[in-house]
Amino acid sequence: MLQHRPHTTVVLAMSADGKIADFRRSPARFGSRVDKAHLEKQIAASDAVLFGAGTLSAYGTTLTVSDPTLVQLRVQGGKPPQPAHIVTTHSANLNPEINFFKQPVRRWLLTTTAGAVSWKERLQTFPSTLRTGAKECPPEFEQILVFETPTREIDIPAALKHLATLHITRLAILGGGKLVASLLELDLIDELWLTVCPLILGGNTAPTPVEGKGFLSDLAPKLQLLEVHAVEQEVFLHYRLQRPAD
Ligand SMILES: NC(=O)c1ccc[n+]([C@@H]2O[C@H](COP(=O)([O-])OP(=O)(O)OC[C@H]3O[C@@H](n4cnc5c(N)ncnc54)[C@H](OP(=O)(O)O)[C@@H]3O)[C@@H](O)[C@H]2O)c1
Repeated sequence: MLQHRPHTTVVLAMSADGKIADFRRSPARFGSRVDKAHLEKQIAASDAVLFGAGTLSAYGTTLTVSDPTLVQLRVQGGKPPQPAHIVTTHSANLNPEINFFKQPVRRWLLTTTAGAVSWKERLQTFPSTLRTGAKECPPEFEQILVFETPTREIDIPAALKHLATLHITRLAILGGGKLVASLLELDLIDELWLTVCPLILGGNTAPTPVEGKGFLSDLAPKLQLLEVHAVEQEVFLHYRLQRPAD
């Protein structure tokens, strides 16, 4: 039976004081190799990963599954070697020169009608690029998904329903804090993996796992701790969102 939306898992690394980047919003490269392997394992377990435009602009790339064993396990399970990588942005004002567009992954864009225009034009001109012989170059976006509310916001619930029809049953949410906040406000998160890393970033503008307006404590989403592992200097916390029926 088709599920109404994919199962969603947020995967983020944070400093001991709860920041997912420094105050310059630099790419978060403070996790250890163990944390990177953990993130790769979560990505390998997904049919698609979703991230916000802020995250893409910080890194300029996305994390692909590089461990040959994980790639092989996916292929043996009948999956493509890499999950689809979905970036979400209203304006879709993304720099086509960034390395993300050179990575060997299927890129999907989740945007608004206005955001889709220029990328659809580029997609339509793509076959002529192929005719010039650049066969190894995949399209910038394999899919452009437009789901819009009447107020021209991205309609995330409708988009997730659509992903389920595309056989995306497990979706990893790779940040950042703004996107995670929107999904939590819509009650669209099922699990979180948070890695607590041994550093302090501080600063009142440094992003945290959940930005947005915030929740009042009596209305806050509540978590159930599923597992916790300490590996060397890091702590891996695995939570499930509690729902009223629990
Ligand atoms: N430590 C970690 O594990 C980790 C992981 C990822 C990111 N980060 C860090 O997080 C920072 C980026 O996070 P961020 O919170 O600034 O940005 P973000 O959540 O990655 O992206 C936010 C942007 O996504 C777009 N968007 C589309 N749909 C949205 C929705 N429903 N809700 C919210 N945003 C939506 C908006 O851009 P448009 O205006 O274009 O629509 C919005 O400004 C970077 O510093 C990065 O290094 C850390």
